[in-house]
Amino acid sequence: MTGSQQTARKAVFITGAAAGIGRATALAFARKGFTVGGYDINESGLESLAGEIERVGGRAIVGHLDVTDPDEMAQRVGDFARAAGNRLDILINNAGILRAGRFEELDLPGHLREIDINVKGVVNGLYAAFPYLRDTPGSVVVNLSSASAIYGQVELANYSATKFFVRGITEALDLEWQRHGIRVIAMWPLYVRTGMTANIKTGTTESLGIRLTAEDVAEAIVKATEPSLLRRALHQVHFPVGTQTKALALGSRFSPGWLTRLVNKKLAHS
Ligand SMILES: NC(=O)c1ccc[n+]([C@@H]2O[C@H](COP(=O)([O-])OP(=O)(O)OC[C@H]3O[C@@H](n4cnc5c(N)ncnc54)[C@H](O)[C@@H]3O)[C@@H](O)[C@H]2O)c1
Repeated sequence: MTGSQQTARKAVFITGAAAGIGRATALAFARKGFTVGGYDINESGLESLAGEIERVGGRAIVGHLDVTDPDEMAQRVGDFARAAGNRLDILINNAGILRAGRFEELDLPGHLREIDINVKGVVNGLYAAFPYLRDTPGSVVVNLSSASAIYGQVELANYSATKFFVRGITEALDLEWQRHGIRVIAMWPLYVRTGMTANIKTGTTESLGIRLTAEDVAEAIVKATEPSLLRRALHQVHFPVGTQTKALALGSRFSPGWLTRLVNKKLAHS
């Protein structure tokens, strides 16, 4: 693809864009004039999103997508990149679900569904988007990991394990895809006030609170896709969001395993 074939607007494809962090991120990129692809299983949420994207200066392309369906993912990503002028500057693998509770008290189909969306959904997105990212200079993948990928979380065992997967695939593809000029990064927010956390109560929501907003994470995502010279030089891959996550991430890097375990046990009131 040549530069002249590409439109001037950059293009961002966001999964799970109808609500929460995905929606706030769609609007943040719209304000910067992007062509914003907002995809979700919640189509009524997308309808109002499209109007909002256009009102703040973006170009909206929205549509149904269940991230667990690889064929639908391939179709949507391809259609979007072509409609955006044969480009895909940013892929944001954001769609996810969270179920809180003791592992054995939550039903097994629910655990497996969480893996399908949070893990297989990300793999489907990465696979479908690769050729378009490779052909767009300076492209970036943003995967939504979580502070729960620092240490396995009580009452979020399965969820937290899905975010370790996201952490791992981000690190590996950051290295693998460097030769294709694709940056791959992960965001690590702690609890964020969205529909996802509206009805959950765990030891750590009690001890740490739910302090971040979807807009805080959206702002951090935009910033991470436009890294400073220092971040570029340091090649930052993981982006903790909020002071609590930064402190926990730093602490776990330098403390011995037994201490990290103890801190997590105390925070979870376990
Ligand atoms: N809220 C938090 O505390 C928090 C913290 C860290 C990381 N995250 C991660 O951020 C991401 C977004 O979370 P959020 O808080 O905005 O959640 P949310 O529940 O507010 O929004 C998630 C969106 O994903 C959509 N979605 C669900 N299943 C889907 C599927 N199969 N296909 C397509 N779309 C689907 C939903 O319809 C919804 O619009 C998730 O990956 C989550 O794990 C959230």
